[in-house]
Amino acid sequence: TSAPLVLGIETSCDETGIGIVRGTQLLANTVSSSMQEHVRFGGVIPEIAARAHLEAFVPTLRQALDTAGVTVEELDAVAVTSGPGLAGALMVGLSAAKGLALAAGKPLYGVNHLVAHVGVGLLETEGAAPAGLPPHTGALLVSGGHTEVLRVGSLTEDVELLGSTIDDAAGEAYDKVARLLELGYPGGPKIDALAAEGDPQAFRFPRGLTLPKFVGTAQAPGPHRHNWSFSGLKTAVSRAVEQFEQRGEPVPRADIAASFQEAVVDVLTAKAVRAATEHGLSTLLLGGGVAANRRLRELLGQRCEQAGIALRIPPVSLCTDNGAMVAALGAQLVAAGAAPSSLDIPADSSQP
Ligand code: KG4
Ligand code: ZN
Repeated sequence: TSAPLVLGIETSCDETGIGIVRGTQLLANTVSSSMQEHVRFGGVIPEIAARAHLEAFVPTLRQALDTAGVTVEELDAVAVTSGPGLAGALMVGLSAAKGLALAAGKPLYGVNHLVAHVGVGLLETEGAAPAGLPPHTGALLVSGGHTEVLRVGSLTEDVELLGSTIDDAAGEAYDKVARLLELGYPGGPKIDALAAEGDPQAFRFPRGLTLPKFVGTAQAPGPHRHNWSFSGLKTAVSRAVEQFEQRGEPVPRADIAASFQEAVVDVLTAKAVRAATEHGLSTLLLGGGVAANRRLRELLGQRCEQAGIALRIPPVSLCTDNGAMVAALGAQLVAAGAAPSSLDIPADSSQP
């Protein structure tokens, strides 16, 4: 039997993504973004995003099918993000997926957006794909809404939360600091680019929850040993910006961006590697929009190597929201013999 041919649909936020995979092989990943329509509001406007999905869906689907050189009839399954995300945006993708599945007589798999960010690490892209999920696998999931380190026993049920942010998500911190530096929205890629021109040692910004009372020892772990906090960092950046403004001096934006990024990435990687090591994990998957960050990819690579952990980082195009990650997870579910979803599955905007 050949690997399942699966189409994945992603519409949870502002990206209309259609991906096509055959097993762990990527055939197409077409993304249409409505980001430019949200920029002037400084954030994604749900109704605008939903309307944009409705307009972009069929052209994006056609392009992905053309690129992959396959027809809807040939598919083995249709996978779609059922949550979490913006309710109206999710409904457009789900409705389209149900229509396709019903008309073409294909099984439908509703998948969790966050698990898909992790599952995309199992595609054959940079390195050879492992056959299924390796034993003792963990994930560092860093997006606009989530910052979590997980033990991933299976992509369907056995997922254990080892640590998470207690306030802002890493991507949220990037977006807020970008606003403070007047870099515009979305902030992550802008800070990433500006940081390349700055000195990461110019400012020593706080690394949240790293004091001994929070971390404890290996024998007696503190309450926040594997957790993060980014709100104090954001406040420290805000205070630094204010000091330059009050003195009437130009704000050294590049140095602040580089030092902020260094603080985020230092504490993200240190705690993820420690959590993975202490839980006996030998493979770590990096996923979510912030996984596109150059410094995070670099430092996590170094620290995983030192700790003897095999790291799988998807190419940048598969880190931000896309349909290939949904297709990749769908193919894993088909291969594992998971039951398809019913055609009445709802959009679950707050799915855990
Ligand atoms: O996963 P994602 O595309 O959407 C959510 O599911 O949240 O993540 C979006 C987040 C945003 O906060 C964005 O600023 C951040 O990922 N991001 C980055 C980079 N590219 C996107 N953060 C840091 N560096 C980047 N290069
Ligand atoms: Zn996402």
